[in-house]
Amino acid sequence: MHDRSYFEKMNPIQSILEQFDFPVYLAPMEEVTDPPFRHICKEFGADILISEFISSDALSREVEKSIKKMHFEEGERPFGIQIFGHDEDSLIAAAKIAESASPDFIDINWGCPVRKVVTKGAGSAILKDIPKMARLTKAVVDAVKLPVTVKTRLGWEESDKPIVEAAEMLQDVGISAITIHGRTRAQMYGGKADWTLIGQVKNNPRMTIPVIGNGDIDSAEKAVECRQRYGVDAIMVGRAAIGNPWIFKQIKDFLQGKEPALPNYDERVKVCLRHLKLEMVWKGERSGILEMRKHYANYFKGIPHFKEKKIRLMSAMSYEECQNILINS
Ligand SMILES: Cc1cc2nc3c(=O)[nH]c(=O)nc-3n(C[C@H](O)[C@H](O)[C@H](O)COP(=O)(O)O)c2cc1C
Repeated sequence: MHDRSYFEKMNPIQSILEQFDFPVYLAPMEEVTDPPFRHICKEFGADILISEFISSDALSREVEKSIKKMHFEEGERPFGIQIFGHDEDSLIAAAKIAESASPDFIDINWGCPVRKVVTKGAGSAILKDIPKMARLTKAVVDAVKLPVTVKTRLGWEESDKPIVEAAEMLQDVGISAITIHGRTRAQMYGGKADWTLIGQVKNNPRMTIPVIGNGDIDSAEKAVECRQRYGVDAIMVGRAAIGNPWIFKQIKDFLQGKEPALPNYDERVKVCLRHLKLEMVWKGERSGILEMRKHYANYFKGIPHFKEKKIRLMSAMSYEECQNILINS
């Protein structure tokens, strides 16, 4: 019989996390965490990155858009490709295709609350059938050599939060780490994330795999508090990083006893324009410009009198025009 430290030493995700003093993931976010945005977050200190979620159905049919979503740069490592689905064969096929792109791990999304995903039985819908969740996860674990991780929620609704038992079952079928978003599906993104159950999973003596906590981390102080209070092995930041990649540096600085510095207007302009440029390369000029429209409000949150510039940015159609609005007017 092996003790806990044996399994911890053998765990490939544990080895990845050990490279960092305070491992912080950038959360996978559809239509947000594309390569340009991930590149910028990595520069500001995000340690571990994951692709946007990719439909296993589409990936197994080699749909071009899904193949493109797997793209990552070497500098993004440690990097995970996230897949979602409900059908065993396509999950297996997608996991194998994802493996051929050589990420560091494959993440299964069992947490997405969006209607078009859950009505098919994928994402958080699986939380209504934990044995099925374990069976499909095992099929993926058995199909690939790479470590497989799971990202999920507490449960389907307030009266049904099986995460402690689910985490044990997932560990037993061989996943290497679990990320828990402290909400139920019914909450979608509303209400407050409940970290107490995340803490219960982490402190369950049966658990040996890393537990990554996620939900509502929006400041360096909160990141450190959540890690310390609930003992999680890493934390994951999602919405608070949108238009605010500085949060990763702020977390690192705070941990070293430095006051987390806020970026001034010039710094925000510089990073935002670089993001715009990268999007224009990644998506093409027009799509890159349109893509950035959803980021401006976040990049310049709290900047007085920004509204007028934002309105103009919403109709700007070239890099120079955006630059002009942000710098010269
Ligand atoms: C726009 C958006 C897209 C998201 N897309 C994904 C996704 O593709 N895969 C996933 O596992 N979670 C996805 N999520 C959930 C986040 O990864 C994260 O779990 C959630 O936002 C809670 O963390 P936060 O409070 O730090 O934002 C998405 C969230 C948002 C807001």
